[in-house]
Amino acid sequence: MKVLGIESSCDETACAIVEDGHKILSNVVATQIPFHQIYKGVVPEIASRKHAEWILPVVKQALLEAKLSLDDIDAIASTNRPGLMGSLLVGLTFGKTLAWATNKPFIAINHMMGHMYAAHLVNDISYPYMGLLVSGGHSIIAMVTDFDKFEILGTTIDDSVGEAFDKVSKFYNLGYPGGVIIDKLAQKGDAKAASFPVPKLDKGDHRYDVSFSGLKTAVIHQRDMFWNEGYEKTNENLAAAFQETACNTLVSRLLRAVEDTGLTTIVAGGGVAANSRLRAMLAEHKELNCIFPPLKLCGDNGAMIAGVAYHFLKRGDRSGLGTTACARIPQFKRGLANLEAFGRR
Ligand code: KG4
Ligand code: ZN
Repeated sequence: MKVLGIESSCDETACAIVEDGHKILSNVVATQIPFHQIYKGVVPEIASRKHAEWILPVVKQALLEAKLSLDDIDAIASTNRPGLMGSLLVGLTFGKTLAWATNKPFIAINHMMGHMYAAHLVNDISYPYMGLLVSGGHSIIAMVTDFDKFEILGTTIDDSVGEAFDKVSKFYNLGYPGGVIIDKLAQKGDAKAASFPVPKLDKGDHRYDVSFSGLKTAVIHQRDMFWNEGYEKTNENLAAAFQETACNTLVSRLLRAVEDTGLTTIVAGGGVAANSRLRAMLAEHKELNCIFPPLKLCGDNGAMIAGVAYHFLKRGDRSGLGTTACARIPQFKRGLANLEAFGRR
């Protein structure tokens, strides 16, 4: 079954064709970075306008690269939540219209479910496992028992990890997008230059939760308070020390969840899963089987949407053409299933 997957939840206009949930026949990602760069962040109105302009050529390109015509496609899938409303609406409306016009099944996909599936596109991974979803909008530690079943153990109580990377980069004028730039700078810096505080969320309900707002404030407004003597205040050192704390925060909670559940396979997804320090930190844990998607599949792409859609379709699920977009999914709360919270469709 060949599924055409569309992703337009933020600032990438993307379309991919994936066969049977695994074989990527094409994966086109048109990035809008140059258009948002001067504003040091994503401008929602610019993002939706670019999506509207690019969606048709991007879908056509995906078909061209896969050497397929629309007749060869068995189903259409689009991201419908969460994300920027205007951006989501372009890909969702395009996908629904295409499905209606060609009389093919349509399936609406939760973006985070797509991110969790990205590593499955190139690996045979069996359930259950510990999922680490880290992106511009989310930081989630979840026990994953199927492609659509997540028990959310921990989440951020304030900002997401990706947002912290982006805001630190913006404040220090390091460039946009912040994550990749900080990752690169940090490789030339010394993480010991500053000792930023790791949030202490140790008790009860917060056992697996993370927080990045305090770290963001410390790095932006209280840098000197946490700076260690003898280290030069360079951007490289700052990036390394910030990144170390951000990654430590995630890894410490993840290890706690691993210890409590006994699950030793960890699967990561989302833009921040591209981070080289996060990958290295987890690789040091030889007792764990850590699976990261290839870099190209960490950020937003259509392949993860088409991939996970295949499993819904195989099960007989379909989304009605009345399916709408949703900018937010009700908070990722702790507890079993949370399928509605996770936004089934
Ligand atoms: O998954 P994604 O492309 O979009 C969302 O769903 O949000 O994630 C984007 C986030 C941004 O905050 C970006 O700065 C971050 O992922 N990111 C990184 C790296 N590459 C992208 N963060 C840290 N290190 C990276 N190498
Ligand atoms: Zn994403």
